[in-house]
Amino acid sequence: MENKTVFLNGQYLPLNEAKVSVLDRGFLFGDGVYEVIPSYSGRLFHFQEHLERLENSLAAIRLANPHTREQWLDILSPLLDVNLDQYIYLQITRGVAPKRDHAFPEDTSATVFAMCPVIVPFAGLNDGIKAVSMDDARWKFCNVKAITLLGNILHRQEAIDQDCAEALLVKDGYVIEGAASNVFAVIDGVLCTPPKGNDILPGITRDVILEIARKNNIPCSEEKIPFAALQTASEIWVTSSTREIIPVVELDSKQVSDGKPGPAWHAMNLLFQAYKKSLS
Ligand code: PDD
Repeated sequence: MENKTVFLNGQYLPLNEAKVSVLDRGFLFGDGVYEVIPSYSGRLFHFQEHLERLENSLAAIRLANPHTREQWLDILSPLLDVNLDQYIYLQITRGVAPKRDHAFPEDTSATVFAMCPVIVPFAGLNDGIKAVSMDDARWKFCNVKAITLLGNILHRQEAIDQDCAEALLVKDGYVIEGAASNVFAVIDGVLCTPPKGNDILPGITRDVILEIARKNNIPCSEEKIPFAALQTASEIWVTSSTREIIPVVELDSKQVSDGKPGPAWHAMNLLFQAYKKSLS
């Protein structure tokens, strides 16, 4: 990444000058949370919803929010470029403690870091991607956007090692989400996605897609999806802020329908792009 300006604890610095102590609890324990917020032509996408999720993540790990929503906007705005599509990566850790101790330290202030890389259009958007299913080996707080991502990383890497772009995680016979995405399936003409709960990250892209579907009378449901139903779905998509809506054209080495992005994906992708444009 080029040496762009980043924000660290109240200062704007070139990336290569931003330094954090090795005693930071984010480094030692993964004790922190993060957000990923897209920005199209300098406008933050669904900023209030991302901040609400950040507030929920902070509350879940019992870390006080260091800033108000207005202050967050003031902090992040200088990182945005009206000529670019970017995403804010915002991370808050429990800060630098005097010694390594699992218990929360007293009197430490949070470490706040934000950077704003360019969104590189995802190569799999138009042709679709291959995915592989695997047992969800993560923990019980998947609704918290924690920086502790080892489970997700190992799942994603296992997918990549099998020449796939995403892992679809399965728990007790139901598909849950991707290693870094939510999952949708078109089953008997209905757009289905698993319900919110502590086993999935409540994706903002997921919510926007459901909102668009409801506005356009596209039948949709938020119910648990048996893995067997996913295997015969006519379409599968994975969604996230940085990759948007990606069609899955192969699951576990078997084609999804004819192995091409399906009509529901084409329709939703057009609606999603139009919606993005309408906000800028
Ligand atoms: N990840 N589920 C998981 C486990 C994720 O990591 C993500 C996104 C999502 C989709 O959420 P959203 O639509 O709000 O981006 C679902 C981000 C992009 C990341 O970690 O980089």
